[in-house]
Amino acid sequence: MEPQRILIQLDPDRHASVFDAVVAIDSNVQHLLQYSDVEPESVRGLVHGAMFTRGPADLKNTAIFVGGSQVSAGEALFKAVRQSFFGPVRCSVMFDGNGANTTAVAAVLSAAKHLPLSGCRSVVLGGTGPVGGRVAKLMARQGSHVCLVSRDLAKAQSACEQILKQIGSTDQAALQACASSDQNALRVALGEAQVVFACGAAGVQLLNRDQLSACPKLKVVIDLNAVPPEGIEGISVMDKAVQRGERFDYGAVGVGGLKMKIHRAAIGKLFTCNDAVLDAEEIFAIGQSL
Ligand SMILES: NC(=O)c1ccc[n+]([C@@H]2O[C@H](COP(=O)([O-])OP(=O)(O)OC[C@H]3O[C@@H](n4cnc5c(N)ncnc54)[C@H](OP(=O)(O)O)[C@@H]3O)[C@@H](O)[C@H]2O)c1
Repeated sequence: MEPQRILIQLDPDRHASVFDAVVAIDSNVQHLLQYSDVEPESVRGLVHGAMFTRGPADLKNTAIFVGGSQVSAGEALFKAVRQSFFGPVRCSVMFDGNGANTTAVAAVLSAAKHLPLSGCRSVVLGGTGPVGGRVAKLMARQGSHVCLVSRDLAKAQSACEQILKQIGSTDQAALQACASSDQNALRVALGEAQVVFACGAAGVQLLNRDQLSACPKLKVVIDLNAVPPEGIEGISVMDKAVQRGERFDYGAVGVGGLKMKIHRAAIGKLFTCNDAVLDAEEIFAIGQSL
């Protein structure tokens, strides 16, 4: 008889995420073991408990999910999980701190429905955050020329350098930094862009109606902010491929359906083998296959 599917939820927050738990159950996980307030030093023991209880053939029925609301703390747990494995005795693991991976993947795949990403010009507003950084990385990986925007040029430059390093590229032109205060540079980048993503903090407007209407080449606009006011003025949170002229617009809820589908599919993938490591790019591949 096939052993039951157990998901071990590791969360740096005081209370393990209810959202992550509900999605796990909706993804046909049979048992959910939740650990909150987890620190990197505790991870090894927890992971070994998962690794050494079932035989190698059954380990694909035990998987680990690292989530919660603190993305950097979650990343540290995810790293500690990977470092706890050795040899073939391991189990699959997924990272989706604060939904950053699944949200970024859903945003990029939404854009991909309307134009080839390779060679397109894109602007990522709020590009230094967990979601924006992942959007910029996935877009650069797909061959887009990305302009990553922050309020602070040095912060944008540092994010670009980090992403170029992660994707193993030395092509500086693939990823350019821009300060939102440099109105001229921002206008030029937006004027050339086919895609713009608003990935700023909740409740922060990054682009107004006039700035948006001065972007003649835009084919896709994606605003991931769900809290009023809109991240891009005039884009409704409910927009889902709403056509306005030559443009297709998406709001946070409009992207959310695909995000949830990708999240559930990724949890499903964890239980197909015992060695999957699902971070942004692997989750992107799962999203592409849906
Ligand atoms: N649809 C979904 O399911 C879903 C899931 C997760 C997240 N989200 C949404 O996606 C967006 C991005 O999430 P995140 O976690 O990456 O966001 P975040 O870390 O809170 O913020 C992203 C960036 O916004 C900029 N920012 C912060 N405060 C600002 C202000 N007052 N004015 C202008 N810029 C400001 C910062 O960049 P600089 O300091 O570099 O300027 C920051 O790095 C959020 O709106 C979030 O609510 C949606």
